[in-house]
Amino acid sequence: MNGNTTAPLHNTLAFFRLSSPQQSLNTLVKSWFVVALVGQWFFAVYVFLISVLPVISGKPMSADFSHMITGLIVGDHKGNFILFAHLIPAAILSFCGVLQLVPHIKLRYPAFHRWNGRLFLLLGLIGALTGLYLTWIRGSRFSDIGAVGVTINGLLIPIAVYLAWRYARKGRVDAHKRWAVHSFMLVNGVWTLRLYMMGWFIINQGPNGNNNTFDGPADMFFSFACYLLPMLIVELVFWARKQGNTLRVVGVSIMMGLGTAVTAIGVIGAAAFMWLPRIQVLLVNA
Ligand code: HEM
Repeated sequence: MNGNTTAPLHNTLAFFRLSSPQQSLNTLVKSWFVVALVGQWFFAVYVFLISVLPVISGKPMSADFSHMITGLIVGDHKGNFILFAHLIPAAILSFCGVLQLVPHIKLRYPAFHRWNGRLFLLLGLIGALTGLYLTWIRGSRFSDIGAVGVTINGLLIPIAVYLAWRYARKGRVDAHKRWAVHSFMLVNGVWTLRLYMMGWFIINQGPNGNNNTFDGPADMFFSFACYLLPMLIVELVFWARKQGNTLRVVGVSIMMGLGTAVTAIGVIGAAAFMWLPRIQVLLVNA
């Protein structure tokens, strides 16, 4: 090999040798963000195509929700309306939510950050309340015990949204940021759940500890882990940022790296096995 071909490798090694634990952590947080942005926008496009498009084309009952637990029921106007009121905000918030995490947008366009933040928190609240209605009043659940994880997720969303909003009003920037990021993780718990499940199926070459009533050991674990694990990592990253350049930061960076890898595997799995095939069916039937 000559000097030219080895230069990129040397540069990469030099970067890791020279970067401090804090810089490495920042790089990993940014890498997670890029993966999450791709996954969120893919999900937004998917939800837009399955739910928003039929509504704006004036044919809501033509929407194909056959993969869902209940989906559309002819004559159940209230239930169908609430299902759309659950899905349409999901499409919008999956598109706009990630933008709140870009420091450049926050600094350069504070008014946009404020209004986009309000929109995200409001839509997250609507998603949680309509989700609780669909699960417990409309009865869209595989089993009571299997629905506990998502129910607690739904109940935590209003708490986190309230705290994020309250601290913003009081001008307590750090506390606002912390609860806004937790709101993001909680509102996107159902998205993370899909990533974890798809990643799990890929690693195990199929279901393992999962069942049709969504109360197998793996189902139960992921239905809680989908918001508790991201919230734990968020807390660790906030904590690590106050730790200087110590070994603790290296430990948190390793967790962040693993989190980014799991998110990437999940995004690829959910896109390949869930969202793309359903989009393909839509395009074929269009
Ligand atoms: C705000 C956060 C939430 C978002 C963004 C969201 C998003 C979605 C999306 C996109 C779907 C369609 C699934 C698909 O096509 O693969 C869905 C379905 C569903 N969600 Fe949520 N969801 C949220 C919170 C919740 C909560 C907290 C609950 C329950 C407590 C819930 C209960 C349901 C149910 C029951 C369905 C299936 C409806 C049916 O089968 O008819 N969601 N959600």
